[in-house]
Amino acid sequence: MALRTSSRSELPSFMVMDVLEKAERMTALPKPLLRLEMGQPSSPPPKAALDALIKHTHDVSAHGYTLSRGTIELTEAIARHYKRWYDLDIKPEQVLVTVGSSLGFMMAFLTCFEAGDKIAMTSPGYSAYRNLMLSASLEPMLIDINAKDNWRLTVASLEQLDPIPDGLIIASPANPTGVVMTSDELAAICKWCEANGVRLISDEIYHGISFDKTDTCAMQYSSSVLVMNSFSKYFAMTGHRIGWVIAPDDLVDPLERLAQNCFISANTLSQIAATAALDDPSTYQEMDSYVERYRVNRDFLLDRLPKELLGQFPYPEGGFYIYADTSGLSNNSVELTDIFLNELYIAATPGLDFDDAAGHLAMRLSFAGSTEDMAEAANRLTQWVQSRR
Ligand SMILES: Cc1ncc(COP(=O)(O)O)c(C=O)c1O
Repeated sequence: MALRTSSRSELPSFMVMDVLEKAERMTALPKPLLRLEMGQPSSPPPKAALDALIKHTHDVSAHGYTLSRGTIELTEAIARHYKRWYDLDIKPEQVLVTVGSSLGFMMAFLTCFEAGDKIAMTSPGYSAYRNLMLSASLEPMLIDINAKDNWRLTVASLEQLDPIPDGLIIASPANPTGVVMTSDELAAICKWCEANGVRLISDEIYHGISFDKTDTCAMQYSSSVLVMNSFSKYFAMTGHRIGWVIAPDDLVDPLERLAQNCFISANTLSQIAATAALDDPSTYQEMDSYVERYRVNRDFLLDRLPKELLGQFPYPEGGFYIYADTSGLSNNSVELTDIFLNELYIAATPGLDFDDAAGHLAMRLSFAGSTEDMAEAANRLTQWVQSRR
């Protein structure tokens, strides 16, 4: 008799990871493969982190477990980071170090919600939120955002939700749109959540990568918000898998118990490296120089990409993605992504990963790589589009 698998396991795949796998398996190519699919910096981690890794590699204690909430040193360094960046007073006890922010989302869902609860998020939006909700038996409520509202989440659209959701997850800068909320927009959303008893989860993983606006932490306007962040983006330590949650006091113990049982503790050596990175002022100069390169890359692509890719797209104010409008080229973004991969040797992510309804007409291009790669990608795309005009 065939044994069953749970309905919770019937998740859509995280398409970007499927593209990554296809890309990694491509060998003996006539041209270098350009990796515009993954949202990961192509530059090394902060020097302070690398030095700490070398210095502590032979410490036996760097290879054991840590406290489930993270090392005391790292939670204290994260608390100092909030003072430095946002002038916010966070207690180190409110910080929980997680395995990437990815696991933090699952922990937040399991801690805050009951099976069947409804959690709102934007569409397009980061697909792992929706997929993880499904595996936690939660119901995603998708809020459509598009060119008409300038791709912005508004309180007016929250007010139309029926029923009022149990939770709302937001991201600024947003993936894939690159929209950065103003502090007024964020304040209004926090206020609406508090007034309606909606648990807010604020994904701030792209903080530090905003080109013209200041990133505001949702804790400034809400005492019940869970703030999610990570060393993966601004700090260019993606593979170390260190994220964190800042939780309101009443959620700290439940989250810690979940961490104890789920993963015991995050990678110890990586926590040591992350602590060294946060505390060294040179880190911010190094990482800001990467952000400057992302800005150059963005401007370069917006200038050079063929107009067929830049119809109604959101202007990337932060993060490192262009959510290109491919409606002039194809009505199937998965097929188009395959063509780009197999014929142009450009890996990109189909819009369907972010939006079930309209994502067949969009594609996400990451500009976190080198400016040379962006130039080469723009050339290949332009030639290909010209050959079809
Ligand atoms: C919006 C957003 N949140 C969370 C994550 C997860 O990142 P990590 O688990 O590396 O912290 C990503 C990764 O791309 C992301 O784009």
